[in-house]
Amino acid sequence: HRPSPSDPWRPAAHLTAGKNWLNDPNGLVYHDGTYHAFYQYNPRGNSWGNMSWGHSTSQDLIHWEQQPVAMEASPEEEIFSGCIVVDKNNASGLGSAENPPMVALYTSAYGKNGALPEGAQAQSVAFSLDNGTSWQKYQGNPVLNLAPTNNNFRDPKITWYEPGRYWVMTTVVADAQVVKMFKSTDLLHWDFLSDFSGAGAQGGLWEVPELIHMDVEDSTAKKWVMLLSINPGGIAGGSGMQYFVGEFDGTRFTAENAAAPDAPLEESQWLDHGADYYAANSISGAPGDKPVLLGWMGNWDYAQDVPTTPWRGSMAIPRELTLVKGAKRLELRSAIAQVARETLERSGEAKSKNLTVGSSLTDLGQDFRGRSQLIELDMDLTSAREAGVLLRHSSGPGSGLRISYNKESGTVRVDRSQAGTSNFSPKFSPFHEVALPSSGSRVSLTILLDSSSVEVFAAGGTAVVSDTFFPDWDSTAASAFSMDGDTDFIVTSRTL
Ligand code: FRU
Repeated sequence: HRPSPSDPWRPAAHLTAGKNWLNDPNGLVYHDGTYHAFYQYNPRGNSWGNMSWGHSTSQDLIHWEQQPVAMEASPEEEIFSGCIVVDKNNASGLGSAENPPMVALYTSAYGKNGALPEGAQAQSVAFSLDNGTSWQKYQGNPVLNLAPTNNNFRDPKITWYEPGRYWVMTTVVADAQVVKMFKSTDLLHWDFLSDFSGAGAQGGLWEVPELIHMDVEDSTAKKWVMLLSINPGGIAGGSGMQYFVGEFDGTRFTAENAAAPDAPLEESQWLDHGADYYAANSISGAPGDKPVLLGWMGNWDYAQDVPTTPWRGSMAIPRELTLVKGAKRLELRSAIAQVARETLERSGEAKSKNLTVGSSLTDLGQDFRGRSQLIELDMDLTSAREAGVLLRHSSGPGSGLRISYNKESGTVRVDRSQAGTSNFSPKFSPFHEVALPSSGSRVSLTILLDSSSVEVFAAGGTAVVSDTFFPDWDSTAASAFSMDGDTDFIVTSRTL
C-alpha cells in the first residue's frame, strides 16, 4: 500500500492493515529471522469491535506483509491484548522438544455463553506449532481468573525472570489503577506475586503494563522499568504512556522517584508527550541488547473518528529504548530501532542544506515533496526567539504542520491545528509540547514524517512527541521559519 490521492493518509513507513480497524500491538515476537506483530483488529469493520488478533510480518521493521487473521472473535469470546513467547523448552507441553510451541497469553473478553459470565475478562492461552501462522486455544482456558470474576482484568505481558527461573506476568485491573503480577514455570499455572499501585497518574484506566530489565547506560547497574498506558489522563490529553524506574526482587516492584498519585502530570515520567502513542510493548526475543517497542499511534479520545478509510489505525515506528542518567532521575531515551533506521537510510538518499533564515518563510525545496521523510534538523537560534519548520503546507503561510523550538521556554512544540482535516472530533487536540532538559540556542530534532503522522525526537530521544494529522494531498510544501531574529539551519532529509 502506498499513499495515493484516493488513499492520501496511508502511511508509507508504518504498519497498517489493508483495511479495517486496528489498535494495540499484541504478541510482538522475533522468531526464526522474522518479526511478528499481532494486533487488536476488527476483521469486519472500520471501528472498534469483534476484537481479534490481526497479524503482519516483517524482516526489516518497515515493510510489513499482512497475514491471515490469527485468532478471530466469536460471540462467546473476543480476543483482547496479550503477548507471545517462544517456549523453548516446551515447559507448557503444548509442543514438543523438536518443535517448541509459540505460546500466546491473551485476555478473553467474554460474550454470551462464554466460559465465564458475559463481560468478564480473564487470561487465556493459545499456541502455534507452525511459526505463528495458525493458533489453537488451550483446552483449560481461562488459565487465570480473579475470583469470582472481574470485568477489567486484562493485558498480560510476560518476561523471563532468570534469578528465579520463572516467567513473570504483569496484568492490570484497569479501573482500580493496579498492576497485578503473577509467576509461572509452565505458562499455564499462575501464582499471585504482588500488586503495584499508588504511583503516578491515576486519572484513567491503567492498561497494557510491561516490566523490562534494562542496563543503565555508562554504568554496570541494571534497573527494572515498568511501562504503563493510561487512558484518559495522559500528558497530552486522553491516552498516554507513563513509566516507572525501580527494582524488582522476584515478587515486588518498587518504583524510585515515582510521582505521588495526585502530583501534577509533568512530575510523572512520560514515554511520549504527543497525543498518539499508546499501548506500546516490547518485541520478545528481538536481536540486539536493547528493548524494541512497537506502539499504537492512536488516542482513544478520537481514534474512532479519524477520517481514514478503508483502514483505521497505524503503528508508530519501532523504537529502541535506553535507560540513561538524567539531571534528576533515570530516564528512558527512545530512538528509531536500528533495523528500522537502517532500512529507512537505505531507502532514500540524504540531501543536506545549510541556510540562515530571518523573518521570512523560506522554502526548503523540491526534495521535501514526498509523503514520507526522515529529517534531521539542527537549529541554532543565534538571535531568534523561536524557530522551526512548517511541513505539508499549502502556498498560504498560515497552514501546515508546525514544529518549533522556543529558546526562552526551552520547549519543542508540534502544532497540528492548521495541518489539514481536524474537524472530525472536538477532542483532536491542537498542539503538544515538551520541555527539554536544558534550554539554549541550539537544538537537534529527528523527525519522521509520514502521510498522516509525525514523530519528533528531541534531547537525544528523552523528549518525544508523536502525533497523527491529516494533511491535504496537495499541501506538499516545506519551509523554515525564524521569529524575532535569525536562525542557522542544517537540514538533512531523506525522502522514502
Ligand atoms: C488498550 C485496550 C486494552 C484492551 C484492548 C482492547 O488500548 O483497551 O486494555 O486489551 O485495548 O481492544
